[in-house]
Amino acid sequence: MADQNVRPSAGGVPPALSVLRWAEPPEGPAVVLLDQTRLPAEEVELVCADVPALVRAIRTLAVRGAPLLGIAGAYGVALAVARGDDVAMAAELLDRARPTAVNLGYGVRRAVRAYQEAVGKGADAGPAAAAVLAEARALHREDAEASGRMARHGLALLEELLPDGDGHRLLTHCNTGALVSGGEGTAFAVALGAHREGRLRRLWVDETRPLLQGARLTAYEATRNGMPYSLLTDNAAGSLFAAGEVDAVLIGADRIAADGSVANKVGSYPLAVLAKYHHVPFIVVAPTTTVDPGTLDGASIVVEQRPAAEVTEFMSPGAGAVGQEGGGLPVAPEGTAAYNPAFDVTPPELVTAIVTEEGAVSPVTGAGLAALCARSSQVTIS
Ligand code: MRU
Repeated sequence: MADQNVRPSAGGVPPALSVLRWAEPPEGPAVVLLDQTRLPAEEVELVCADVPALVRAIRTLAVRGAPLLGIAGAYGVALAVARGDDVAMAAELLDRARPTAVNLGYGVRRAVRAYQEAVGKGADAGPAAAAVLAEARALHREDAEASGRMARHGLALLEELLPDGDGHRLLTHCNTGALVSGGEGTAFAVALGAHREGRLRRLWVDETRPLLQGARLTAYEATRNGMPYSLLTDNAAGSLFAAGEVDAVLIGADRIAADGSVANKVGSYPLAVLAKYHHVPFIVVAPTTTVDPGTLDGASIVVEQRPAAEVTEFMSPGAGAVGQEGGGLPVAPEGTAAYNPAFDVTPPELVTAIVTEEGAVSPVTGAGLAALCARSSQVTIS
């Protein structure tokens, strides 16, 4: 089914993306996603009518990116309650779908808590379902608000760090825009803000191997927003830094440990090393919901390992098979073993600043991060 909401309007200005929505009966109950495996070729909705379907969508990256995973997890619990499914089992399935993005478990636990509170007050099935859906909607809304605030703090930091020159040349990795958020995203939202203020000279977009979130998704979002951007292979970043073409790196995060270590899409850590060597600010933009005080340091972060086929095969154009074994074009001999971590971890000493909706911490220290999170109005879930 084509998503009416993402078709360009007659005036040529694309309307806001509808990346995730809740569908009421008779269409639902369902969680309806813009299928990110099909972008940029097709804007197609994926209807998840039960939790196993949503878990598949999460695993295959039809829905992805830390904040959006949290939102999807919360709506997933709402879906289980609305269907009368076993809520504890649904929550466990959702929570385990991907291990690194802390927001997924956060969203699931928030929704489960809302369910338990409703049931504890004697709510029947209908009111309990309404309470969980309201919690999912609240998280969705809060993430949108956090996105706007992160953009403002990030822009202020850029102006402070890069006061001179005729516009910023910003390098980004993976996809951190509206496709991962209730709002306009994290790192990408800062670049978009710079663009709207006429301060973006160029957005350098890493293609982000192996699943090309940069090429397929960030370039798609940059095009929709009319931003000046160039796509590069991940391994071209070094020569770009050496040529003095990067003023700052802006990335998101999937989990930030208590000491300020940042897990993000694989390839982020090499960028941080390059940035340090070339004296370029390396800025992480993430909501406080991505900070996990329960994970003490970078070594304690569980990094998701993905199927070898994502490396030994290249996606077939239009196949929509990203993340599915056997769906792509083989680029290595059959049976080739692959190392395919989805994320890597950047230590705090390589991070110039972490920007959240509550402001920025720089230098990055555990104490500074804790103080920032203490100011947050985000719901705390143990
Ligand atoms: O594997 P993905 O596509 O879910 O990875 C997403 C990222 O690494 C993003 O950079 C991260 O979630 C931050 S998005 C705000």
